[in-house]
Amino acid sequence: MFDFKIIPEIVFGNGASEKVGAEARKRGGTKALVVVDPGIIRAGLFDRIEESLTKEGIEVTVFDGVEPEPQIEIADQCAQLGRDKGCDLVVGIGGGSAMDTAKATSILLTNDGKVRDYQGLDLVKKPGVPKIMIPTTAGTGSEVTFTAVFTDKNTKSKAGVNSKYLFADLAFLDPKLTLSLPPEVTAFTGMDALTHAIEAYTSLSSNSFVDLFALEAIRLISDNLHKAVTDGQDIEARGSMLKGSLFGGIALANAGVGAAHALAYPMGGEHQVPHGIANGLLLPYVMEFNLESNIEKFSRIAEAMGERNQGFSALEFAEKSVSAVKKLVEDVKVPTRLRELGIPESAIEGLSSGAMKVTRPIENNPRKVTKEDAIEIYKRAY
Ligand SMILES: [Fe+2]
Repeated sequence: MFDFKIIPEIVFGNGASEKVGAEARKRGGTKALVVVDPGIIRAGLFDRIEESLTKEGIEVTVFDGVEPEPQIEIADQCAQLGRDKGCDLVVGIGGGSAMDTAKATSILLTNDGKVRDYQGLDLVKKPGVPKIMIPTTAGTGSEVTFTAVFTDKNTKSKAGVNSKYLFADLAFLDPKLTLSLPPEVTAFTGMDALTHAIEAYTSLSSNSFVDLFALEAIRLISDNLHKAVTDGQDIEARGSMLKGSLFGGIALANAGVGAAHALAYPMGGEHQVPHGIANGLLLPYVMEFNLESNIEKFSRIAEAMGERNQGFSALEFAEKSVSAVKKLVEDVKVPTRLRELGIPESAIEGLSSGAMKVTRPIENNPRKVTKEDAIEIYKRAY
């Protein structure tokens, strides 16, 4: 038995985001709090979205204080602004940071307290105000997940608000908005998306619905990430990446992630390594560790990444999934070693302790991971 959750509506296509005003109006919005990545405003991508809202008579309040790997306090500040202005709808425009802040803000506008009160699973008491997500990176899949992750500077760890009330009401996927993403951001957000798909597909919680989305995400990302990194204006590759990220997000929302994410979190919390870089770097080493748990599924990943079985044994062919991911990581120039990130080898012990505290992904990993295993994986990646 399994259940499968997905947001009620997804609009995909070039220029789709310009329909936001009409859709916000349909959902009863009169005062929108727009949580927008400041880079989107600088790139001039916000103007038409704002115009679409104001044209419908919707009052727009902008919060552009989001930052990469956002601190908890940022979402509390954003929610306070929304309360002060009486906002009745939230729009998140940007990468995971902006969308996660928007999602958390939506529930804080109807539930008392601060983000910290809701970190954990199913602690949110009632639905938030309607929320619309517009991703501008092809990475986090936050537009279709029920999670908002924040960094706690006191504990140097990351923690998520996880609740069905965090699901967006609607997402606009507009490839045009991703054209101006620099190559390195394209590369590491794309590796995050690939990690969602591979970890959800091989996780203990996968099911046949998840597998459909995950395998298609792996195929799309494998075929298009390098193209999108080398030619940012390739609108087809950008669109395929946005779909890959969306499908990876759907898989993630329904099956969770595994050890690569668990080991990546402390790298972000303690050493400020961007989430996608940590995931891309660790993914092949974690896959190597997990390979024996499900040779069939790793063979399917190899296939989805364009490998063909020409007389290999089952294990040899499954191993092709690891070499294919390693090659992609190198091709798109994501760092492949912890040492390249300036992390001292002496930090591995602390990172491993941190990773073991990320219990849900650790327990969802297809092969049991002990602290000694985590140390070994970090060492192999060093
Ligand atoms: Fe992720």
